[in-house]
Amino acid sequence: MEQSLILIKPDAVTHHLIGAIIGRYEEEGLTVSALQMLRPTQELAVAHYAEHQGKPFYEALLSFITSGDVVALILSGEDAIARVRLLNGATDPQKADAGTLRALYGEDPMHNVVHASNSSANAQREIALWFPKSETSHVPSEG
Ligand code: CMP
Repeated sequence: MEQSLILIKPDAVTHHLIGAIIGRYEEEGLTVSALQMLRPTQELAVAHYAEHQGKPFYEALLSFITSGDVVALILSGEDAIARVRLLNGATDPQKADAGTLRALYGEDPMHNVVHASNSSANAQREIALWFPKSETSHVPSEG
């Protein structure tokens, strides 16, 4: 069993895509273990995107992710990290495989509707950032 941290970004929230996106993950058998809507603070955005500091799009990325409400969720399942990334598609929606969430709903490399953890270590780090007060409560129950 593996967990991944997903963000449904402000572009997707604005375009009424929360249900469609979560529905796609659930259709594939992934389990929503935690979920919250919030407008990220600058501090949270900086911590979340630390690895992108210094890149040409970094400042614009912080502005975008703090521009409106975001839905953060933890998805659980066998190979959840890889499966979610397949469902999301490539970062650039123009390069994403047909039928993926970014191909369906993304506009450009910045406005690409979803974020998902890219490794187990990053999933743990991101879950601790977005769900700091419930670090054990989102572990899926047995059965
Ligand atoms: P995400 O999965 O949230 O991780 C980093 C984000 O940076 C990425 O999705 C995009 O939203 C954004 N990003 C990555 N590459 C570019 C780029 N070349 N131009 C603009 N934004 C980018």
